Amino acid sequence: MLRLKKQALNKDTRKLRVGVLGCGPISQAAHFTSCRKAHNAELYAICDQAEDLVERMVAIHEPRVSYIDYDQMLADPQVDAVIIAIADQFHVEAARKAMVAGKHVLVEKPLGVSIEACEELRTQVHASGLVLQIGNMKRFDPGIAFAHHFIQEEMGQMLALKAWYCDSTYRYVLTDNLQPIIMRSAKARRPQGNPKADKNRYYLLTHGSHLVDTARFLGGEIKSVQARLVEKFDAYCWFVAVEFADGSVGHLDLTIAVRMDWHEGFQVYGEYGSVIGKTYNPWYFRASDVECFSVRDDQYHRILGEDAHFYKLQIEGFADTILHKTAMQGADIEDGMAAVRTLVAISRSVESGTWVQLADVVGGV
Ligand SMILES: NC(=O)c1ccc[n+]([C@@H]2O[C@H](COP(=O)([O-])OP(=O)(O)OC[C@H]3O[C@@H](n4cnc5c(N)ncnc54)[C@H](O)[C@@H]3O)[C@@H](O)[C@H]2O)c1
Repeated sequence: MLRLKKQALNKDTRKLRVGVLGCGPISQAAHFTSCRKAHNAELYAICDQAEDLVERMVAIHEPRVSYIDYDQMLADPQVDAVIIAIADQFHVEAARKAMVAGKHVLVEKPLGVSIEACEELRTQVHASGLVLQIGNMKRFDPGIAFAHHFIQEEMGQMLALKAWYCDSTYRYVLTDNLQPIIMRSAKARRPQGNPKADKNRYYLLTHGSHLVDTARFLGGEIKSVQARLVEKFDAYCWFVAVEFADGSVGHLDLTIAVRMDWHEGFQVYGEYGSVIGKTYNPWYFRASDVECFSVRDDQYHRILGEDAHFYKLQIEGFADTILHKTAMQGADIEDGMAAVRTLVAISRSVESGTWVQLADVVGGV
């Protein structure tokens, strides 16, 4: 009996030993601190080919070990799982290597930049028995999670969903005050060319991946899209008409950047209720304001969501899935795949001006 209790305690206190690949901005602003704050994970290792960045991050975050070679971090038997926090173009390759080395993977969003590469990774994930989660941390925003729960359990059928993600022209004024001072290195590994120069593609991948995932998390599978893109005064606005698999209609608005404050949220109309949500710039670590109206009691329901460190919560969820086999709360390989398909379909629809079925698309954004 005593032994059993001790074993249970060991199970509960075991921490996931995480190795973070990439010491760039997202690791500095989110992943290092999140691993250190998570109750069930440990910042065990960090890795970046830029030695100067590694040295500075070691001084601040004190991981047990550090590497400048990813293969060496993967060869470390103490590393249980890796967080892949590098440029989108390298995600699939790094995730595939990690799984070959037997490591669980939390890969930043978007899963990849082409459907074919993501599909190969999906085959590998299914064959490996390892956990792979995508870094769509908004699923861990307590307000969005509350909306998801209400939609699943109480709302009945969905009629329509609208979602918007509009970055602000003042984003850097805001985030510079909220984030730690980001350190950069001339030795950092970057994709060929400058992917950020093609703004249309870059914005769709980096911001569109959040919008599409939130729409799918709340509204379910997307079947087809018809998208229009307007570019004016260096601003990009995608209006996307959506057909969901259950026959509901949707409208997505991705605008980069609006000449006002950060503007993100959603509205869902259902059979027994409706949901309205306002999401804040993520670096406030503030839960979305979400109101779920239920016709069952004629009342609005909302939660406080006092712990809204979504990046920490996503690591805790990831660690629980690995350590205790709990159901994955984050986006899984199918969600990652579907998000990339949706983004590619949006691109194709902008080019053709027609409705595009997700099942038909190939290639990249
Ligand atoms: N979830 C979010 O809110 C959020 C926010 C910002 C960025 N992101 C995502 O995070 C990812 C990383 O963004 P970033 O701005 O930090 O990237 P970045 O390219 O600026 O930095 C990545 C770092 O990884 C290193 N690196 C890359 N490949 C490596 C390898 N094979 N071995 C060793 N080191 C390697 C580079 O040297 C660089 O220092 C992107 O996919 C981006 O979309 C997510």
